[in-house]
Amino acid sequence: MGRMITEHHVTIANRRTRYLEAGTGWPLVLLHAFPLNADMWRGQLEHMPEGWRIIAPDFRGFGPGTGDPGPAPTMDDFADDVRALLDVLEIDRAIIGGLSMGGYVTFALLRRCPDRFTGVVLADTRPQADTAEGREGRKKLVELVHERGAGAVADEMLPKLLGATTIRDRPDIVSQVRQLIESNPPAAIAGALHAMMERPDSTADLRRISFPALIVVGEDDAVTPVSEAEAMHGQIPRSHLVVIPAASHLSNIEAPEAFSKALQDFLPPSRA
Ligand code: MLT
Repeated sequence: MGRMITEHHVTIANRRTRYLEAGTGWPLVLLHAFPLNADMWRGQLEHMPEGWRIIAPDFRGFGPGTGDPGPAPTMDDFADDVRALLDVLEIDRAIIGGLSMGGYVTFALLRRCPDRFTGVVLADTRPQADTAEGREGRKKLVELVHERGAGAVADEMLPKLLGATTIRDRPDIVSQVRQLIESNPPAAIAGALHAMMERPDSTADLRRISFPALIVVGEDDAVTPVSEAEAMHGQIPRSHLVVIPAASHLSNIEAPEAFSKALQDFLPPSRA
């Protein structure tokens, strides 16, 4: 049996914000991908070793029953919300990381408050900003979500987030990810698209990461491929790279055991 996951709500920047939590001990903060929410981390929340407290927040507007994100949030806003949550929880420093967009928010946190990190996890993500073509794609998705809702975004995103093999052979995962996407309000999805298209390039910041870094990537990730992870590994001084077999972009959902093992191997021995 896995560990018990509890769900909490706090007020951050005048918005109701949800976070999931499991375990006690040293804090590990996990930040979610687009267009998912904190529920994507349930596999990791359930199966971490003793001595670790995992905290997985929703970004503004995401998840059930959270507040309106406003029309144009930025990655810095998302990062400031995470920092404010750490303040509310009286957590001074933590291992902080995220998958894909969660990684983009982690880069913003690294810029804004590097003193809050004891280590960093960068999963299926990349430091570069969007290309001009990428931004055009984001604008089309903003129109789509306003016109046709989160279901239409799921139709568009699923083939990118999950590899062809997962889509063909693992209907359980496809429906889990679809449900995750469809549980988010359209305003949250539009807000995150805005934040992603405006985000700055973080490549030059990588070499300044002075604490241990875990880089994880699904071997079949087509959105942020292994070559991107290898490039980050080359630039971050104290980094360790784990390539997860038989997984694509959502490696923690497609291969939860392998992903959690990579985390466990990275975490320093429990001091709780
Ligand atoms: C994500 O998984 O967070 C998104 O695919 C990232 C992106 O679209 O750049």
